[in-house]
Amino acid sequence: MELYEAVAKRRTVREFLDKSVDFEAVRRILEAGNQAPTWNHNRSWSYIILSTPEEKEYAFEYAKKTADGFNAEKYLNAPRPYPVTLAQKMYGYAMPRQFTMLKNAPYVVIPLFKCKELDARYVSRLNTFSTIWCVIENILLASAAEGLACSLRIPLNEEHNIVKEKLKVPKTYMIPAFIGIGYADPDEALPEQAGACLDKQLHYGRWK
Ligand SMILES: Cc1cc2nc3c(=O)[nH]c(=O)nc-3n(C[C@H](O)[C@H](O)[C@H](O)COP(=O)(O)O)c2cc1C
Repeated sequence: MELYEAVAKRRTVREFLDKSVDFEAVRRILEAGNQAPTWNHNRSWSYIILSTPEEKEYAFEYAKKTADGFNAEKYLNAPRPYPVTLAQKMYGYAMPRQFTMLKNAPYVVIPLFKCKELDARYVSRLNTFSTIWCVIENILLASAAEGLACSLRIPLNEEHNIVKEKLKVPKTYMIPAFIGIGYADPDEALPEQAGACLDKQLHYGRWK
């Protein structure tokens, strides 16, 4: 698949078909992840792979609690001084699926980057974190090129350390995201998204 086609096809999904994925495809996807640019020339990343229901249930107990405790109906119908926004509609759709979109993915990849603690005083101090997101984007695009799709969850607050401990991740690594990989359910109706308008985003020479 051509690059621009994969870029256009990539989308975040939260429903998967009950169809197995060849692990060789996951390996190719992770090799693409490993081609990402790297701030320190070391490519010091690792990947934890979850595939059995037991592994996923154990790792994502916190995500299950979060999803089960979320009342989408109440959230979307809460009194507001303005109509529900597209972002709120997406949140209301995504939240109840935070566990099933990982549990029902044939593979969950957990990328790891070397870092004990994030320091956001300067953008350059976030290089280790920025780099792993280059890896993640390669994974998302390579999955699209394989005809697969991804769900994506960012560990919420203390969920990061809970999952890290459960999976025995060394203290020197952090988890940027959980990535479910599988065949997208073509019947999933995704909420409308706000599009970006390049002409409004462009600033030539300076902001104004
Ligand atoms: C930094 C980042 C964090 C995200 N966190 C979550 C998440 O925790 N749960 C989720 O369901 N989707 C998450 N997403 C997916 C977004 O909801 C999705 O990318 C967005 O709605 C745009 O849709 P698209 O990816 O199909 O273009 C995240 C995406 C990014 C880039």
